[in-house]
Amino acid sequence: MDAHTPRTALITGATAGFGRAAARRFIAAGWQVIATGRRADRLDALRAELGDALHPACFDIRDETALRAALDALPERFRGIDLLVNNAGLALGTKPAQEALLSDWKTMIDTNVTALVTLTHAVLPTLVARKGAIVNISSVAGVYPYPGGNTYGGTKAFVSQFSLGLRSDLHGTGVRVTSIEPGMAETEFTVVRTHGDQAASDKLYAGAHPMTAEDIAEAIFWVASLPPHLNINRLELMPTSQSFAGFQVHRDPQA
Ligand SMILES: NC(=O)c1ccc[n+]([C@@H]2O[C@H](COP(=O)([O-])OP(=O)(O)OC[C@H]3O[C@@H](n4cnc5c(N)ncnc54)[C@H](OP(=O)(O)O)[C@@H]3O)[C@@H](O)[C@H]2O)c1
Repeated sequence: MDAHTPRTALITGATAGFGRAAARRFIAAGWQVIATGRRADRLDALRAELGDALHPACFDIRDETALRAALDALPERFRGIDLLVNNAGLALGTKPAQEALLSDWKTMIDTNVTALVTLTHAVLPTLVARKGAIVNISSVAGVYPYPGGNTYGGTKAFVSQFSLGLRSDLHGTGVRVTSIEPGMAETEFTVVRTHGDQAASDKLYAGAHPMTAEDIAEAIFWVASLPPHLNINRLELMPTSQSFAGFQVHRDPQA
């Protein structure tokens, strides 16, 4: 790769939120981006906005056959992937575990864990050959438990630990791996989590000054732009308005 060849990022979940903002940020800096997601109209709009530096790849990331077909169908100039941003993901439901839907749990595991490792496994040989980088979008939910976080938190704990494990295995290859662990950011995340309840989403963010998709895109871009000898292992970000609360104690009313 010479200094004039643009670098290529594969960004999953680029139809909304962090992924779409990251696609814009990387292309503005001269990168090429493979942008994935299920909503073809959103990908078409992004392609119209950002031009031929963007390659739209429309598929459900849980569909391994479709995922492999999308990689196989990459145009020649997008095949040299230098950066994999594993961003596609979701939380579903806010109820306590004993009231949660098993179908929601399985969707989160299939998307946040199984699809992420499948794509990573497929792209790793290219990343090793090119001394590339992986940025995994985890969450503070993978570090700090909270009521209703149950399986979502579990999937993100996996993402964080998988990232550290990759660092160990990729020792000496020059491939960098980072786990980015954001707190509250306003995207379509809460509308998805509440199965389409825009009012609940608006209420959650009202007056909270949450982080924006652009804040996280900037963090992803910063991590990817550091010199090759420097690896950010994990990066936790929160809005200033968000912090920590104490443990909860249930008191027996009979005692
Ligand atoms: N917002 C937050 O507060 C927050 C905090 C910490 C971590 N995160 C994490 O950040 C990542 C991005 O979230 P966001 O806040 O940007 O949410 P978002 O606005 O809802 O965007 C999620 C993206 O993931 C894609 N996606 C979801 N399921 C998919 C599937 N089955 N196949 C293909 N693509 C799929 C969506 O695309 P389609 O719907 O078009 O398929 C969309 O582009 C997620 O991993 C999330 O867990 C978010």
